[in-house]
Amino acid sequence: MTKILEDLLQDHRNLARLWDLLGRELNVFKEGGLPDYALVESILDYCINYPDLCHHPKENLIFEKIRERDPAAVGAIGDLKKEHDKLVALTWRFSTAVSNVIDDEQLPRDWFMDVANNFLSFSRNHMQMEEVLFFPAARKTLTDEDWKDLEETVENVEDPLFGKQKQEKYQGLYQEIMDWGGMSDGTKNTGSAP
Ligand SMILES: [Fe+2]
Ligand SMILES: [Fe+2]
Repeated sequence: MTKILEDLLQDHRNLARLWDLLGRELNVFKEGGLPDYALVESILDYCINYPDLCHHPKENLIFEKIRERDPAAVGAIGDLKKEHDKLVALTWRFSTAVSNVIDDEQLPRDWFMDVANNFLSFSRNHMQMEEVLFFPAARKTLTDEDWKDLEETVENVEDPLFGKQKQEKYQGLYQEIMDWGGMSDGTKNTGSAP
């Protein structure tokens, strides 16, 4: 597998872990408890600063290459760029709602839950679609030359949460992920600091 696809799949494994963590906090909210809003805010901040900035743009470039090679192959995938735009909008919407709750704004519970669920289910469905339709189409359609071109074009940004150089502001979130039971790629929870 090419390095770009390997990196994208690793991002998906990391994101799946974050969606599970988010789901855990939403369940607390659904049952009338007080979720860890700071943790939810940190997850959304990461989404704005890494997947929205780096992961989706890489996928958009791959999508355009597939379209060039085989326009019919993109038919089943749909409009990937539009899905990414929608994801960005849902992330900002949810993030603003959480910031307002933290600032003591009273938001209708049902509305807040809808905003959260829209974000979570759209994100999960989108990743699933990519793994079932988009990545296989890329593997099938693109040539070695295409992948080489893409490697030279994509901008590689260090993952500020799961990468080697973690940003200070995500240390709490990373620790929570580790304490919660390790990474979805099977890395064991050692209980030690990252
Ligand atoms: Fe995507
Ligand atoms: Fe993706």
